[in-house]
Amino acid sequence: MKTILITGGTGFIGRHLCQRLIDLGWHVIVISRNVATAGSRLPAAVELIGSLGGLSAETEIDAVINLAGEPLAAGRWTEPRKKKFIDSRTGTTDALYRFFAAREQKPKVLLSGSAIGFYGAGNGQDMPVDETGACVDNFSHQLCKRWEQSAAQFQSLGARIVYLRTGIVLGEEGALAKMLPPFKLALGGPIGDGQQWMPWIHIDDMVALICHCLDDGSLAGPVNATAPNPVRNTEFTKQLGAALGRPAIFPMPAFMVKILFGQMGEELLLQGQQVIPRKVQDSGFKFQYPLLTNALSDLLKSQ
Ligand SMILES: NC(=O)c1ccc[n+]([C@@H]2O[C@H](COP(=O)([O-])OP(=O)(O)OC[C@H]3O[C@@H](n4cnc5c(N)ncnc54)[C@H](OP(=O)(O)O)[C@@H]3O)[C@@H](O)[C@H]2O)c1
Repeated sequence: MKTILITGGTGFIGRHLCQRLIDLGWHVIVISRNVATAGSRLPAAVELIGSLGGLSAETEIDAVINLAGEPLAAGRWTEPRKKKFIDSRTGTTDALYRFFAAREQKPKVLLSGSAIGFYGAGNGQDMPVDETGACVDNFSHQLCKRWEQSAAQFQSLGARIVYLRTGIVLGEEGALAKMLPPFKLALGGPIGDGQQWMPWIHIDDMVALICHCLDDGSLAGPVNATAPNPVRNTEFTKQLGAALGRPAIFPMPAFMVKILFGQMGEELLLQGQQVIPRKVQDSGFKFQYPLLTNALSDLLKSQ
């Protein structure tokens, strides 16, 4: 049985991923800051450790998936919180690197978190952005760049590294869960001018894509984890309203977003590039939910 070590395994993506990896026959070890509560959130077969020191010397780690990080969309981006976003990600990744650098047995592959925020600001441009796309500098870009640079240290250990440049993951948690209450009350609508792109991905495809990156030894470097058909905010709004059978006609003007959410609103809500998953598609990965309409009708079938 192969063994995989996961940071951030208790999170939204991590929990779905752990279940899938167990189903596929992996021995899954999750590092959590709170082992006591983590146990109730994860399948019983997951081995939980509170720190890297809890890993026994004889345990061979074949692969590492690194998702841990302070949540970004929980509130305004104050300077202390921005520092925490960076430190929680680079700190965890640096600690992983130091641990394996000092260990005789090294993992063969590291899949490390990143985000479409790597490509930085953008609003409305028609140019698709694949993994070779240019970046516009802003805080999101700096955060992802530093996270990827930290992970890149694993090159010196001979590991294959994939940076998962993840889009808006749609599932029972995350962005969709935050959007649902106003939309259910028929108070939803476009944000700003609605022209910003929203590269999204269904949680099942996210998990399948991570497993594909684990298996396909030819994939390395940045990999866009987004569905092949990103939509603009106006289209997302229209389709979400339709899926819920509610009108979605109350726009939130850009100035209001800036007042309410500050820089977080500007970078996460008012901007977005047309990111496409060129590398996984070229490698033969098939999305179960390539279209937003199918993803939403699957996720909202019980609403
Ligand atoms: N969900 C999305 O739409 C999306 C999109 C793009 C990128 N991403 C990135 O992908 C990663 C996983 O996403 P997710 O939605 O599953 O995240 P999540 O639900 O917020 O979970 C992140 C995990 O990271 C750990 N964590 C939280 N704060 C931390 C801190 N200050 N220091 C160290 N560890 C901390 C927690 O594990 P413990 O409490 O067990 O330690 C938590 O379970 C995140 O880093 C996120 O930024 C997500």
